[in-house]
Amino acid sequence: MTLSQNADANVFYFCWKSPSNIALIKYWGKSGNQLPANASLSITLKEAYTLTRIKAGFIQGGSGPEVEFRFEGEKNEAFGSRIESFLKSVVPHFAFLKEVRLEIESGNNFPHSAGIASSASAMSALALCLCSLEKEITGREISREAFLQKASFISRIGSGSACRSVYGGISVWGKHTSVEGSDDAFAVPLSFELNPLFSDIRDTILIVDPGQKKVSSSVGHNLMKGHAYAAARYTQAASNLTALLLALKQGDWETFSLITENEALSLHAMMMTSRPGYLLMHPNSLNIIEKVTDFRKQSGSAVCFTLDAGPNVHLLYPAGESDKIKPLVEELKDYCYKGTAIEDTMGSGPEKLNCR
Ligand code: DP6
Repeated sequence: MTLSQNADANVFYFCWKSPSNIALIKYWGKSGNQLPANASLSITLKEAYTLTRIKAGFIQGGSGPEVEFRFEGEKNEAFGSRIESFLKSVVPHFAFLKEVRLEIESGNNFPHSAGIASSASAMSALALCLCSLEKEITGREISREAFLQKASFISRIGSGSACRSVYGGISVWGKHTSVEGSDDAFAVPLSFELNPLFSDIRDTILIVDPGQKKVSSSVGHNLMKGHAYAAARYTQAASNLTALLLALKQGDWETFSLITENEALSLHAMMMTSRPGYLLMHPNSLNIIEKVTDFRKQSGSAVCFTLDAGPNVHLLYPAGESDKIKPLVEELKDYCYKGTAIEDTMGSGPEKLNCR
């Protein structure tokens, strides 16, 4: 069937729920069309997700895609124009887009202002909807593996970190000698069984400041071009990834903590030493880091921290330590915006939902 046949007869609905992720090995710096300067690795979360529904109908003339976008029930100019330019940029990969009108509705289950990166969940949810639409209207048989790979490829064009959210558990994005099948164009899931020590990893997200960042990630990535420490950073990320993979396989939590924290602090060091340099950590991010380090020394706990490109701090620990960590979290809430701490855990990846 071509799209112009049955032009008015078909309306399609697709709905995907896709989670956010937290990087342990950080993607920082890019080139070309959203290609990473170094390979990264992340944990796909469970509780922080975006739900996106698309309604697609055909239009005549090949001037599409026509887009109407609503975020949490309301028209949203800023998100809408990012979505529109993303859709235009993926037309070469979805020829049918020129012949469709899309009504897109999207919403997060975490407050938009919670300071949790939403581009990863939002872009992956939309990419998955587009891949489902392609599958339906072309009628092409496609393996689950190939479907997810394309969804990851398309997500990456929307936002680099989004391509890792397509898989549950842990995924790697970017070509790396230690990861077979790894690629700069899409993410891949871990090819080995995680050591059980890491299979129930928890993430308590301490919201130091839920506000908009002063410097966006795109600006930050750009500042890596010509950065005095760029080459050393990419070498560091590559060797950290090799060591982290081994730690995940062997159940070596000590190395896991060491590398996770080294990556978070290196990411922020890159920001501070950019030209112009800038700080995204707040005094309370530092207060939290100090308390976590002291707590670990005193209690022998496995807890460690990581940060995104922002002031909020993620505490990572095995589920078995939840009770031990509770009093620490209570204390750290004093450093958080309105005492906000969000409990999350490693999740099994996006889900296709029935919707109309
Ligand atoms: C610090 O994926 O948000 O979270 O590709 O420009 O959308 P764009 O950037 P984005 O960058 C994420 C950077 C990071 C590290 C990471 O998630 O790997």
